[in-house]
Amino acid sequence: MTINEDSPQYATGTALVTGASSGIGAAYARRLAARGHDLVLVARRAERLKTLAAQVSEEHGVRVDTLVADLSDTGDLDRVVARAAGDDIGMVVNNAGINGYGPFAETDPALLEKVIAVNVVAVTRIARAAVPGMLARGRGTVVNVASTLAFAGSLPPDPLPTRAVYGGTKGYVVTFSRTLAAELTPSPVRVQVLCPGLTATEFHLTQGQEPVGGAEARVHDDGGMPVEDVVTASLRALETGEVVCVPGLVDGAAVDRVTAAETGLRASATSTLAPRYAQGSRQ
Ligand SMILES: NC(=O)c1ccc[n+]([C@@H]2O[C@H](COP(=O)([O-])OP(=O)(O)OC[C@H]3O[C@@H](n4cnc5c(N)ncnc54)[C@H](OP(=O)(O)O)[C@@H]3O)[C@@H](O)[C@H]2O)c1
Repeated sequence: MTINEDSPQYATGTALVTGASSGIGAAYARRLAARGHDLVLVARRAERLKTLAAQVSEEHGVRVDTLVADLSDTGDLDRVVARAAGDDIGMVVNNAGINGYGPFAETDPALLEKVIAVNVVAVTRIARAAVPGMLARGRGTVVNVASTLAFAGSLPPDPLPTRAVYGGTKGYVVTFSRTLAAELTPSPVRVQVLCPGLTATEFHLTQGQEPVGGAEARVHDDGGMPVEDVVTASLRALETGEVVCVPGLVDGAAVDRVTAAETGLRASATSTLAPRYAQGSRQ
């Protein structure tokens, strides 16, 4: 592995990227290869991984391994987790994700479980596997990909219903990443949560595997942010130390205001029952 001179200190070692067969993950793989990282590319579609691996290793002279795995399958996830614990791993990009959109009461519970397996369980287990070695070696970076839908709890039912479980998983990724980042401070291991808005990928063409049609699939007709810009924001935020990276957010201080509101809420919640609950309650 050769690291470019302009590559910052955080970016050393092999990078394991999940969901590297398309979209943001593939863009991340290309950019990290250009920076001299060896790569481990994870996804289900073997052919796509093989093609990308051949391209980037030829172009940038880095070693690229592919790991074909379904992250919702426990046995497959175990293999990825074992690789993430390798002592060459300097960076993990937990990017794979599925949406499972649909009215909550009508959506197949097995699909919802899969959304949680890929978006929550895999992210947590892969990070848990990688971080101890990173701490021991005194360097490492974990990027977890969430979404601006992590902040969707205050949305009215229209125009964005049917995303409760997806939004919930991304809310987990945000809180998990921020809390872990705080826990690992002041170690040199960095944690970032990347929260893209609508991005020009294949994401909305399936719920996870089965193609979807209609308006849902046409969401990308309007474009969305190019994947290269999303990755540029993430890499720049690693340099500046931003934990919560929202690529399209012009007013970066908005994240600080969310943090301040949370702090205020926690600080003013006492261990005494609030009067509005006490009033009128029966014994
Ligand atoms: N596109 C958007 O508008 C948008 C907005 C906010 C956040 N995001 C987030 O960005 C991340 C990347 O999505 P994307 O937009 O780049 O979409 P994408 O093009 O659909 O890419 C998703 C990637 O995840 C992989 N994946 C899906 N299920 C998997 C499984 N069970 N096991 C292993 N890999 C799996 C897919 O590979 P295989 O199919 O080959 O397995 C693919 O490489 C996701 O976490 C998503 O939630 C996307």
